[in-house]
Amino acid sequence: ASSTIRCEATEASVYRETVETINLDWDNLGFGLVPTDYMYISKCSQDGIFTKGELLRYGPIELSPSSGVLNYGQGLFEGLKAYKKEDGSILLFRPHENALRMRMGAERMCMPSPAVEQFVNAVKLTVLANKRWVPPTGKGSLYIRPLLFGSGTVLGLAPAPEYTFLIFVSPVGNYFKEGLAPINLVVENEFHRAAPGGTGGVKTIGNYASVLKAQKRAKENGYSDVLYLDSIHKKYLEEVSSCNIFVVKNNIISTPEIKGTILPGITRKSIIDVARGQGYQVEERLVSVEELLDADEVFCTGTAVVVSPVGSITYLGRKVEYKNSGIGVVSQQVYSSLTSLQMGLTEDKMGWTMKL
Ligand code: COI
Repeated sequence: ASSTIRCEATEASVYRETVETINLDWDNLGFGLVPTDYMYISKCSQDGIFTKGELLRYGPIELSPSSGVLNYGQGLFEGLKAYKKEDGSILLFRPHENALRMRMGAERMCMPSPAVEQFVNAVKLTVLANKRWVPPTGKGSLYIRPLLFGSGTVLGLAPAPEYTFLIFVSPVGNYFKEGLAPINLVVENEFHRAAPGGTGGVKTIGNYASVLKAQKRAKENGYSDVLYLDSIHKKYLEEVSSCNIFVVKNNIISTPEIKGTILPGITRKSIIDVARGQGYQVEERLVSVEELLDADEVFCTGTAVVVSPVGSITYLGRKVEYKNSGIGVVSQQVYSSLTSLQMGLTEDKMGWTMKL
């Protein structure tokens, strides 16, 4: 059988595999890779124009040992999700935002990036080609991972002469093993995730490799993940390795402002709008570690994480436990509003969802 499917149609055709049901333990999905049927690949050489793109069988790709991404880390990734509705249709959540963020990151990393429409169409195509992997309603989602990287060869430090835009997908459940139960975070004192003028504000692959050591140590010590402080004052909250952070005090919600050192999360931005829509005052500003320790509720947000309540913070050996034994009132409210929108259970007045 041919391993290549040309993407001349705007919608993926129905392939034999995509209609055969799969036997997956949908009730126990975590956040681990489940290989699916197809991946999308498009390339761009020095002319800056990405090829139309094609769906290939999901699997290993060929990459030169001297590619820009392997040698100098010239690469970005994105993350978004598709949910299955009761009626069988599939909803994407704000894919244009991911396309725009990839373009912004690409500019910082000296890479060409696919046009917003190409990005969104490629996401749709990849999801449709793998639609049997979208978990049943309420069991999870299909995580979509777009990558953009320097696949052309380099030796001296320079932008690569060729780029690859690739999308693969995997069905996922909860990111943290705790599920919706509160997670325990430790404030990192030795390592920093980002510095002013660096790349902390873009989704470059290197930002994630650099947090692994602190994360590993935290996990060995029984914590769920690490919370980073700013690298200048070592006082203001930045973000958790894989998500943004929100602090609630007297029903006012605060979150670190976007100033180049934290990732401009699409879930972060959506939660701010959802909470404001529910009448909450939401402040984007410097949030100190003292405020964090004095908060009524703390929660994290991210595409993979969605909304995750924080049960305790440990800072310089002092552990502060938040009063709520489960998820706090505000965290629960924003979680429910966001997920009902994403799953198409409430009317989407914001126009955030895209039906496939
Ligand atoms: C996401 O939430 O989509 C991310 O990209 C974070 C990643 C570490 C799973």
